[in-house]
Amino acid sequence: MSQTVLEVEGLSKTYENSMHVVHALKNVSFSLKKAEFAVIMGTSGSGKSTLLHILSALDKPTSGTIKLNGQPCHHIFREPEASRYRLKNVGFVFQAYNLLKDLSAEDNIAVPLVLQGEPEASIQARVDEVLRILGLSAFRRHRPVELSGGQQQRVAIGRAIIANPPILLADEPTGNLDYNTSKEILDVFIKMREERQQTILLVTHDPVVAASADRVLFFHDGEIRDEYHCRGKQDLDNILRIFKTITEGR
Ligand SMILES: Nc1ncnc2c1ncn2[C@@H]1O[C@H](COP(=O)(O)OP(=O)(O)OP(=O)(O)O)[C@@H](O)[C@H]1O
Ligand SMILES: [Mg+2]
Repeated sequence: MSQTVLEVEGLSKTYENSMHVVHALKNVSFSLKKAEFAVIMGTSGSGKSTLLHILSALDKPTSGTIKLNGQPCHHIFREPEASRYRLKNVGFVFQAYNLLKDLSAEDNIAVPLVLQGEPEASIQARVDEVLRILGLSAFRRHRPVELSGGQQQRVAIGRAIIANPPILLADEPTGNLDYNTSKEILDVFIKMREERQQTILLVTHDPVVAASADRVLFFHDGEIRDEYHCRGKQDLDNILRIFKTITEGR
């Protein structure tokens, strides 16, 4: 049986100020197995980014537990543990790439290894391997401004997986890209799962992206309202139907 990498149990997040109370997450529970590619689809404001922020210790849950490789993670929500946890345990890919503009593609990819104090010789070998998988070897010395959106996103994926984190989190990674480039980036995620056994949790509004995953979690109003296991045939139709049912409240 494949190993469970992530277990989320009863996770809730409430944002409060003097005017408003927002229940961004309400009792969310799910788990991810090693090399599973799971997608979250949901309406705007349904708590998708909040979940990813909590899983990467950028935000603190109001209640609930997270276990990574069987280890409870309640100590990760304060510094310096939060930074250490992020560096070691999560790769994060953003819609807006968020690369360091003065560094080349290869230096951007190497950042997590440099921060972890890895020796220079082994950094180079690992970066070379990732550049090869990403099809970026010819662009290694290009800075972000000299790369297309799709190439920049591939660099961002390289940076996210270079240190072999147990989970790769991606928040609308194809949101800024056209159809063909989105497809290329999706293929990179699939390759990361197949060649590196990478566990992936990806948020998307795109049902085509969702249909390429193993499993889709449907979020609405801070809750997981449904779940779909992709089988190949009819996935796109089924995903669209479930999404419509949830958003129309039927
Ligand atoms: N830091 C914050 N302070 C107060 N409220 C917040 C904060 N972050 C998120 N929220 C609220 O929590 C809810 C969930 O937001 P979240 O960003 O997780 O939604 P989302 O599903 O990612 O939406 P989208 O698809 O538009 O990106 C929203 O009502 C949002 O306004
Ligand atoms: Mg969001």
